[in-house]
Amino acid sequence: MSERAFNFSAGPGALPEPVIKQAQQDLWNFQGSGMGVCELSHRGPEFDQILGEALADCREVGSIPDSHHILFLQGGATTQADMVPMNFLNEGMTGDYLETGKWAEDAIKEAGYYAKINGGTVHVAGSTKDEGYTRLPADKECKYVDDAAYLLYVSNNTIYGLQFNRVPKSKAPKVCDMSSDMFSRPIDWSHFDMVYAGAQKNLGPSGQALVVIKDEFMQKAPKNRVGRMHDYSIHAAKESRFNTPNTFAIYLMGQTFKWIRREFGSLDQVDQYNREKAKIIYDAIDNSDFFKGHVQEQDARSLMNITFTTPNAELDEEFCKEAKKHGLLTLEGHRSIGGMRASVYNAFPIEGCRKLAEFMKNFESQHRTQVAGASA
Ligand SMILES: Cc1ncc(COP(=O)(O)O)c(C=O)c1O
Repeated sequence: MSERAFNFSAGPGALPEPVIKQAQQDLWNFQGSGMGVCELSHRGPEFDQILGEALADCREVGSIPDSHHILFLQGGATTQADMVPMNFLNEGMTGDYLETGKWAEDAIKEAGYYAKINGGTVHVAGSTKDEGYTRLPADKECKYVDDAAYLLYVSNNTIYGLQFNRVPKSKAPKVCDMSSDMFSRPIDWSHFDMVYAGAQKNLGPSGQALVVIKDEFMQKAPKNRVGRMHDYSIHAAKESRFNTPNTFAIYLMGQTFKWIRREFGSLDQVDQYNREKAKIIYDAIDNSDFFKGHVQEQDARSLMNITFTTPNAELDEEFCKEAKKHGLLTLEGHRSIGGMRASVYNAFPIEGCRKLAEFMKNFESQHRTQVAGASA
């Protein structure tokens, strides 16, 4: 690492350093064109190349089959939570949802608007809300509607640090919000009719989404029923250039795909690295009776967002303050649950995990005596 700190932000999160350095150069003069990357026409030859490579590299890195379109769309993941029911939840149909955190709750809320407008039904097949999202609902607890228009679930709960290690057993087409674990591990596309991800964690800048949608599923949306900007078929036909796209976001995502290929070669390797990184921090939690993890179900602990607390809220605050002095930034948990959250997306280096684990050990030995209840 250079003079940059270790940034544990949940998103926008740390970008790969070589990508930032390349962007610095290309912002000034893209490949000797005399124009910066943000100054290129979205219909010009330079951007043709950027978009073409981003699509090809995305397909290669993600092993995305030809049956699925790749779309670069604006408006982040929230717009996708809106567009899915807008396109697919129509009269007499059910949109099935798993309620496993705030982003799932928001998606359910969005679907509610279209259910009202279009005469569809929103059904929550499973939820762990009452348990404070400390675990995921098991398949046997879920009441899936097998002939639903789709089942939408969120693979990684960014706020609580819960991650699916299985694909829900519904028979409906699966739509998955992978915002906080996209390309952090291999994806078996045979399970998914659609995947979307806000870019700002593992892929690039905020305000942008990567959408991978199966053609067969896309064709199920009635034609000309939504405005063109919200119509997946239009974006697919126009190769994500229906209007002026976020050219810089596409460029940066393209550079990130190249970085994944160069640095790791495959998503299996990315997964291995992420497992190694997360283990360092989970071991620091598990080997202590001072720190406590939020997630109770071991198998559902996120490799991307690691949530934990000290014995009390004052110490949590002190922890984050002290950590900052050691160059460990943005460890504060989401405002809805407090405590700490270490987000260690693909670009976050393993050295930062080691430094955090060491800091945790030192913090514990300095503060444990002031805590009643923690054994000496
Ligand atoms: C899992 C998940 N879904 C959706 C969102 C919302 O994304 P956006 O802000 O890009 O709309 C987030 C944001 O952190 C997220 O973590």
